[in-house]
Amino acid sequence: MVYAVPLQRLNQIIMKSTYHRSWAEPYKIKMVELLRMTTRAQRLKAIREAGYNTFLLRSDDVYIDLLTDSGTAAMSDQQWAGLMMGDESYAGSRNFYHLESAIQKYYGYQYIVPTHQGRGAENLISKILIKPGDVIPGNMYFTTTRLHQELAGGIFADIIIDEAHDPLSEYPFKGNIDLKKLDQLVQTHGAAKIPYVSMATSVNMAGGQPISMANLKALYEYTRPLGIRVIHDMTRVAENAWFIKQREPGYEKHSVREIVKEICSYTDGATMSAKKDALVNIGGFLALNDWDLFEEARNLVVVYEGLHTYGGLAGRDMEAMAIGIGESVDNNHMHARVGQVEYLGHKMEEYGIPIVRPIGGHGIFVDAKRFLPHLSQDQYPAQALAAEIYLDSGVRTMERGVVSAGRKSTGENYYPKLELVRFTIPRRVYTQAHMDVIAESAFRVLKRAKKIRGLKMIYEPKYLRFFQARFEPL
Ligand code: F0G
Repeated sequence: MVYAVPLQRLNQIIMKSTYHRSWAEPYKIKMVELLRMTTRAQRLKAIREAGYNTFLLRSDDVYIDLLTDSGTAAMSDQQWAGLMMGDESYAGSRNFYHLESAIQKYYGYQYIVPTHQGRGAENLISKILIKPGDVIPGNMYFTTTRLHQELAGGIFADIIIDEAHDPLSEYPFKGNIDLKKLDQLVQTHGAAKIPYVSMATSVNMAGGQPISMANLKALYEYTRPLGIRVIHDMTRVAENAWFIKQREPGYEKHSVREIVKEICSYTDGATMSAKKDALVNIGGFLALNDWDLFEEARNLVVVYEGLHTYGGLAGRDMEAMAIGIGESVDNNHMHARVGQVEYLGHKMEEYGIPIVRPIGGHGIFVDAKRFLPHLSQDQYPAQALAAEIYLDSGVRTMERGVVSAGRKSTGENYYPKLELVRFTIPRRVYTQAHMDVIAESAFRVLKRAKKIRGLKMIYEPKYLRFFQARFEPL
C-alpha cells in the first residue's frame, strides 16, 4: 500500500486530532463594531500630528487597538442588561450593595469604597497610610501607583526578584518579591517607616508576570509580626490565578475562583482598576478588612470621588462591575483570555520577534532593545518602534520603557532595564485572525529594523509624561 503521507506523520495527525483539544472562546458574538482601514499616507499624517506618541492618535485612525487592556473589554449581554438595572439614587444605590456582595463573595474583602477607577483608590490609600519620608516597597513600580505614593511623600523601593528585569529569564513567577530585599529595607529604615508593601498580582511593567502563592504566603508571614500591611494591586488578579493553576504544584485542580480568593486572603486590603480583569469600561474600588482604615477611606472618598456608596460611578457602572467580577473568575473565560495572548506570542516567536518570556497574561511585550539594537535608550527605541508598527498596519501599541519610567524627584531620568513595546490584548474583543495580522505586521517591521531611526522628545509634561509627550524623528 502507498501512503500519500508517511505513515509516521499520519499517526501524528491522527494522534493530534484525537487528543489535542483547542481552546475557544466561551461566548459567541451578538453585535460588531466596524473598523476603519487607513492608507500608509493617512497613517503618516496621523502619527506626525500625534507627535509620534500613540496615546495622542485619534482612535478613528487606528485599525487594531492594542494600546491597553484598560476599559476596552467587550461586556457580556448580562452586563449590558445590568446597565438597565442601574439605580441612580444619590445615596444607598442597590447596585452598590450588589457590588459589595460580589467583592465579599469572590475576593473575601470586608469593606469597600467604590472609586472612578484604580488610581482613585491609589490616591486614597496613599493619603491614608503614607507619611512624608516613608518607604513603600513594591514588586516593580506601576506608573500611577508610584506617583501617588510619591505625591503623598513616600519613596518607592523596588523589591521584585532580579529575574523580573531580565526579558530572557524563563522563571515561571517573575512577579515574586525578593524577601531578602524587603528585609534589607526593614533593617535599614525600621518597620515603622514602612506602612505597607505594595504587592501587585500579574506585574504589568514586568510583562504581566505572576506572583506565586508560596511567595505571597511567605510575604504575609514576614510582614504580619512587623505590623507592615500588604496592600494588593488586584487589577489583574484572575490572570495571576490562572498562571498559578498552570504552573504552581498543588494548584492544578483548584479553580481560578478558589485561587483568587486565597490570594486575597494573604493581604490586608486592595486597590482595583476594574477596567481590566473585571470586564468593565470604567470603575474601581478600594477594599479593606480593617474597620478604622475603612472609616478614614469612607470619609476621604467624599472629597475626591463622591459619596461612599457611589465613589464617582453611576449605579449602572457598579452593577456591570458586580456581574463582571463573577464572569472574570470563570476557568473557561481565563483559558480563552490567556490562550489568545499566548497564541499571538507563539506566532511572534515563530517570526523571530524578540519578546519577553514567559508570555504574560494581558499582552505581548516586545523587547525594543533587541529589536532595535542600534538605538540607545536616549533615542527612545520602544517609542520609535510603537510608531513604526502603527505606520505599517494601523495597529496601535504603546511604549513601556524610558518614557514611561519618567524622572526621579531629583529630575534625573529613570533608566529601566526593560525597554518594551506592549501589545495589550483587550478582553473578548478581537479574533484569532486579528492576532495573525498583528504578528505579520511586527514581522514586516522587523525586516527593516536597521533603517528605523530614534526619536527626540520635544515636549515633556510634568506628570506621567508618556501619556502626552511629543517627539520628532532624529
Ligand atoms: N495598577 C495597575 C497594575 C494598572 O495596570 C493600572 C492601569 C492601574 C493600577 C491604574 O488603574 O487606570 O484604572 O486608574 N493600567 C492601565 C494600563 C492604564 O494601560 O496598563 P486606572
